[in-house]
Amino acid sequence: MLEIKGLAVSYGATTALAGVALHVEAQEAVCVVGPNGAGKSTLMAAIAGGVSPRAGSITYEGKPILGMRPENIARQGISLVPEGRHVFGTLTVEENLFIGTYAMADRRHAAADAEMLLGYFPRLKERWRQPAGRLSGGEQQMLVIARALMTRPRLLLVDEPSLGLAPKIVDTVYETLLSLRRERQLTLLINEQSSERMLRFSDRIYVIRNGRILLHGRTEELRDGEAIARAYFGFDDKADAALEAAP
Ligand SMILES: Nc1ncnc2c1ncn2[C@@H]1O[C@H](COP(=O)(O)OP(=O)(O)O)[C@@H](O)[C@H]1O
Ligand SMILES: [Mg+2]
Repeated sequence: MLEIKGLAVSYGATTALAGVALHVEAQEAVCVVGPNGAGKSTLMAAIAGGVSPRAGSITYEGKPILGMRPENIARQGISLVPEGRHVFGTLTVEENLFIGTYAMADRRHAAADAEMLLGYFPRLKERWRQPAGRLSGGEQQMLVIARALMTRPRLLLVDEPSLGLAPKIVDTVYETLLSLRRERQLTLLINEQSSERMLRFSDRIYVIRNGRILLHGRTEELRDGEAIARAYFGFDDKADAALEAAP
């Protein structure tokens, strides 16, 4: 469904991504895990058309999308939930949910889609007429995910949904995303800083650090977490040898 090759992004003298290759199959849940500053958000911005890569290719459903304007990429069926849970605090939950649909040429399905999504996010229904700024962090995370789904994406990019949320709420967010995948044929690409949850919820994992993919594989093969920790923290063979040689 999504295929990225040789992707390179720089911000002035800073190299954010170098030679990144990644693919996502339809209806997979794929996680990109890496420390702060690894390049995760840049990768999602590049897919969604928010930054201009120096090199590489991005193909979505067989069509090159690199260089397309963000609104055209969204129209292909890709939606990004940026990190930080940006809601319009003084607008109601309802207004926040519909805000992305006002510019749509055909919004006949918007009301029915909102109704369908509220089945997945019942808390939002309870908070329907309240200002979004008064919601808890978890409710705001659900709101931004629901809002991103209002454009009917087939591929949802979710940037660090668990940041700052209690573990129980994070589980709810993930269980909801996986239900949407199962029942609405959604494909998921998710950024996280911690791999622990990804070991439970994803099909495949990419570990990114310093703008490079250092490890990727099926989650069941990475289950013990050791290879991920090595890639994540940058232990190399020499460091290991030094550790083993130490008294
Ligand atoms: N707008 C920007 N201008 C300059 N440097 C940036 C910008 N955004 C990100 N960077 C740098 O690019 C690298 C990757 O950042 P980012 O993609 O945000 O990583 P992550 O999401 O994994 O924390 C970091 O070194 C960061 O400081
Ligand atoms: Mg980030």
